[in-house]
Amino acid sequence: MAGRIPQDFIDDLIARTDIVEVIGRRVPLKKAGREFKACCPFHDEKTPSFTVSPAKGFYHCFGCGAHGTAVGFLMDFDHMDFVEAVETLAGMMGVDVPRDQTDQTNRPARRYDALFGLLEEVERRWRDQLKDNPAAVEYLKERGVDGTTARRFGIGYAPDGWSAVLDRYGTSPEAIERLLAAGLIVRKDNGRHYDRFRDRIMFPIRDARGRCVGFGGRAIGDGEPKYLNSPETVLFHKGRELYGLYEARQALRQIDRILVVEGYMDVVALSQHGIDFSVATLGTATTAEHLNRLFRLTDDVSFCFDGDRAGRQAAWRALENALPLIREGRQVSFVFLPDGHDPDSYVNAHGTGAFLELLDGGVALSDYLIGELGGQVALDTVDGRARLAELAKPLVAKIPDGVYRELLIASLADSVGLAPAKLERMLGRGDRGRHPGPASKAATRKTDARRLSAARPSVVRRAITLLLHHPAAGARLDVEKLAGVNKPGVDLLRRVIETVQAETHISTAVLLERWRHDEEGRHLGKLAAVEVPSEEDFDAAAELLACLDQLAAAGRRERVDFLIQKQRVNYLSDEEKAELRQLR
Ligand code: UTP
Ligand code: MN
Repeated sequence: MAGRIPQDFIDDLIARTDIVEVIGRRVPLKKAGREFKACCPFHDEKTPSFTVSPAKGFYHCFGCGAHGTAVGFLMDFDHMDFVEAVETLAGMMGVDVPRDQTDQTNRPARRYDALFGLLEEVERRWRDQLKDNPAAVEYLKERGVDGTTARRFGIGYAPDGWSAVLDRYGTSPEAIERLLAAGLIVRKDNGRHYDRFRDRIMFPIRDARGRCVGFGGRAIGDGEPKYLNSPETVLFHKGRELYGLYEARQALRQIDRILVVEGYMDVVALSQHGIDFSVATLGTATTAEHLNRLFRLTDDVSFCFDGDRAGRQAAWRALENALPLIREGRQVSFVFLPDGHDPDSYVNAHGTGAFLELLDGGVALSDYLIGELGGQVALDTVDGRARLAELAKPLVAKIPDGVYRELLIASLADSVGLAPAKLERMLGRGDRGRHPGPASKAATRKTDARRLSAARPSVVRRAITLLLHHPAAGARLDVEKLAGVNKPGVDLLRRVIETVQAETHISTAVLLERWRHDEEGRHLGKLAAVEVPSEEDFDAAAELLACLDQLAAAGRRERVDFLIQKQRVNYLSDEEKAELRQLR
């Protein structure tokens, strides 16, 4: 197993990569000033809003908001994982990717190798055992699953008995621990163990790289529970994985749309009928993390639910989780099946064409939202309309500022017979107020108001944004000014300043890649996508200085407030008294 790729290699690779060449090989780029433009490859458009900046090593689409470095582009456009993207860039430069050989035993990836290996072995064994069990094969046949489809999904059979897996793979205390960690056996109160999956059809669940991370097991016939799933383990998180996603990516070169269904058998049956773009959540609601993964692959996500009450409830939860991710260019729709049907039974009863027709008749998210809310109030009364605004308020507040949100408000207004401006007032802005940063005049000059408000910049955000765009402008900032400042993000700001000061020629892209594997990386990416004037149009260094001074002043005010409060309830030491005098 290869070791970790050293960070300085990645830094160097990003710094030397010509992002215009990387993207230009895949998308026709046209020069426009110092940047390059194209019609965005991540959403449909007629006029180009996709921009590539060679100086920053960064691309950004003003239409759909897609953005990132050359690495990010390869990951999103070519569906590569991080390591593949790095290897591709290195390959373009004709260099090999070095690996750290040190301390491999403690690296997570290495630690989990044994678990991945175990799951793979068990998966293979169960697949072999399916062939030897006529009842299991017969069950799959009866449900319309043929051998090709079963192989494609790696479907297997876990034989009856309490210790088939335990006896074969649990030959030492460490091996037993491993079986437990992989979720394959269960420990009893008396310390003994038994196999979790017995006499079940087994569906391996794969991660993005195709490795088995867990299983779903279906009883043959009427056994209880109908489905038994792997527990959450270090490798398997239900809120993250989607059954069938890896298989869909294998089957399709280009994923145009994705359909989210509820069951393993739904995914398998749809694939059996040539519909290879469905995935299933694993007995949980659709989470924001699921949706984020899906939107990285496609802009068109549909949900298919049963027409019953439970299905409607699940659909509504999916809608709520989708709202924060909605933006122009992304389509979310809902398909409800006739009562008593799930995708598996429907496609088996009516065929591929009928199912695809049903899909095309899905309800757009906005229509679904408006329809559901409208159904709960009497729209022909003033009270009813006010109530609708109340119901819509928390939902609309989840949608990011932008064209989509405006359109939704407009059609909501239309359907209740109110002027959009009036409805907007009724919806209120709540805590979505806009705080212009320091020297915001310079910033607004070239920035359209909508984009600025989408960022809702605080001073900290503003400072980080400026540093990302103009790293060199941070060279002479005094980080000490931030001591005692308690605002969210100040820590990150401090680290960004320290980084640009330690490496004077660092580019936007290299900075972003440093944070790729942190939660904060996503925030940085978004800030790098905010439009900022170029250095000729304003003095970034001066503005950064102003930001830091403003933060320092806020920090002092907080300290004064704190000392005054303390004085009231307690007493101040001599130093604190002196400090307070000096601050005031
Ligand atoms: P369904 O009960 O709708 O099952 O559960 P299904 O997919 O139609 O199954 P078949 O057609 O009877 O074989 C949908 C999903 O909910 C989870 C599973 O992930 C299942 O695929 N589930 C269901 C469980 O985890 N446990 C259960 O006992 C039932
Ligand atoms: Mn079913």
